[in-house]
Amino acid sequence: MTKRRVAILISGRGSNMAALIQAARAPNFPAEIVLVMSNIAGAGGLESARAAGIEAVTVESKPFGKDREAFERAMQDELLKRNIDLVCLAGFLRLLTPWFVQQWDGRMINIHPALLPSYRGLHTHERALADGVKIHGATVHFVIPDVDAGPIIVQGAVTVHDNDTPDSLGARVLQIEHRIYPQALRMVASGQISIDGGICKNTVTTATEKTLISPAS
Ligand code: GRF
Repeated sequence: MTKRRVAILISGRGSNMAALIQAARAPNFPAEIVLVMSNIAGAGGLESARAAGIEAVTVESKPFGKDREAFERAMQDELLKRNIDLVCLAGFLRLLTPWFVQQWDGRMINIHPALLPSYRGLHTHERALADGVKIHGATVHFVIPDVDAGPIIVQGAVTVHDNDTPDSLGARVLQIEHRIYPQALRMVASGQISIDGGICKNTVTTATEKTLISPAS
């Protein structure tokens, strides 16, 4: 098995990055994490990546100011140098230009802390609580130029509790994120996902009849 070469882009603590690194340690995992890149110097995830033996570099976005494409060209150089096949965004807090997204069309995935297409954008847990939804969750999707809008690969759901705060709900969603992101990367890297008219089809995994009802009764 030739493993796909993966770069993870972060801006912060990198807990999803850590989950991907951990999962990719399995000998039969179809991808290897070869690079972690941050646009913020000193991002917490850089140290944990290095501690895990992964090369971790910073390409600061700040010096490029409003010239987003120049910043992305600097990132792209680092990615090309290492023959990266797939890019995982994991808490990467920069909007990407259509140019960069096009370079990685069908090869760049992101995790978003909501059940898309609900709650695109920021403050997803606050907004879900304000709406009183009873089921919330997270989504891994391919990246397209529209933010939080690409083909959905995997979703995971949690129940919302009456006494939840954005933090308590976010913590439960984060647990789910750490499960679905490695799963989605495994599916994409192994080639079992195809995109048909903007919709992901899974050529291997069969659907289950599992249900989640909230509140239970
Ligand atoms: C996660 O909630 C992820 O869904 C969002 O940004 C957060 C990053 O957290 N895109 P971490 O850095 O992976 O811990």
